[in-house]
Amino acid sequence: MKDYIATVVKNERIAENIHAVTFALEEKPRVRCGQFGDIFVGGTHLLRRPIAVCKVDGKEVTFCYQIKGEGTQKLKEMGTGTKLKVLMPLGNGFFVEETEKKVALVGGGVGVFPLISVLRQYAGEKEISAYIGYRNAGAVCGVDEFEKADKFVAVTDDGSYGEKMNAVQAFAKDLEKGNRPDVVLACGPTPMLRALKAVTEKENLPCFVSLEERMGCGIGACLVCVCDLTNGRKARVCKDGPVFNANEVTL
Ligand SMILES: Cc1cc2nc3c(=O)[nH]c(=O)nc-3n(C[C@H](O)[C@H](O)[C@H](O)COP(=O)(O)OP(=O)(O)OC[C@H]3O[C@@H](n4cnc5c(N)ncnc54)[C@H](O)[C@@H]3O)c2cc1C
Ligand code: FES
Repeated sequence: MKDYIATVVKNERIAENIHAVTFALEEKPRVRCGQFGDIFVGGTHLLRRPIAVCKVDGKEVTFCYQIKGEGTQKLKEMGTGTKLKVLMPLGNGFFVEETEKKVALVGGGVGVFPLISVLRQYAGEKEISAYIGYRNAGAVCGVDEFEKADKFVAVTDDGSYGEKMNAVQAFAKDLEKGNRPDVVLACGPTPMLRALKAVTEKENLPCFVSLEERMGCGIGACLVCVCDLTNGRKARVCKDGPVFNANEVTL
């Protein structure tokens, strides 16, 4: 982990309310898929914003973010050449075992961005099926990346792009047809992850979920981000996660 001085090389809108910022770092970072960076947006915004690493190309790293509140609004306004601090890589990230050849990615909302990093890490090595849910056609992004998967199913809540269903329904539909993965990796809103866990538990499929929790320090020191484990213990999403075995975390 390093606190990089990052220089904005591109910051553009990629979908309705979603932007992608690319930073040039001083050196190529070593990042595992599913890890995140903590971006210091400056000014009075002392708390950094945790955002998943989406792509790494040499010394350049891209984060995709939804404009939500003051911090992401401030990030959106940063033009080319702006310098800011990005602490990364943080968290554990996704791991796929050697024996797991078929991987299903299930994502919704801003959860689609860490899954792009999984696809980029494992494309060619694993057989990947991606089931991605968007709110509507205007929110669709990352298609050029997901099309590199062996199978890509895009769906929307209102049916304006792909079928009208959510990502979990799209995954379950394919599972019923016999397209059974060895492992499921997911990121998205908690209700989506809960619905997915119900399916994977029933089917006895290994499933790993990346959680989104409000964060303070991002490095395991403040305990703002704790979540409940099924064994009664607690875990820090920033340090012990954000990726957890779905069977071991309370959703
Ligand atoms: C591990 C991880 C990865 C994430 N990856 C992405 C991503 O790739 N793209 C993306 O758009 N968003 C992502 N998020 C959510 C993102 O961190 C929040 O949307 C963002 O911090 C909102 O900041 P804000 O100042 O615009 O909003 P405000 O609501 O003004 O934020 C106020 C404070 O609450 C925190 N906060 C608010 N919402 C969240 C949230 N959902 N999760 C964590 N902290 C929050 C902010 O960091 C800030 O400290 C991720 C969150 C986590 C924990
Ligand atoms: S954010 Fe401080 S311990 Fe996780």
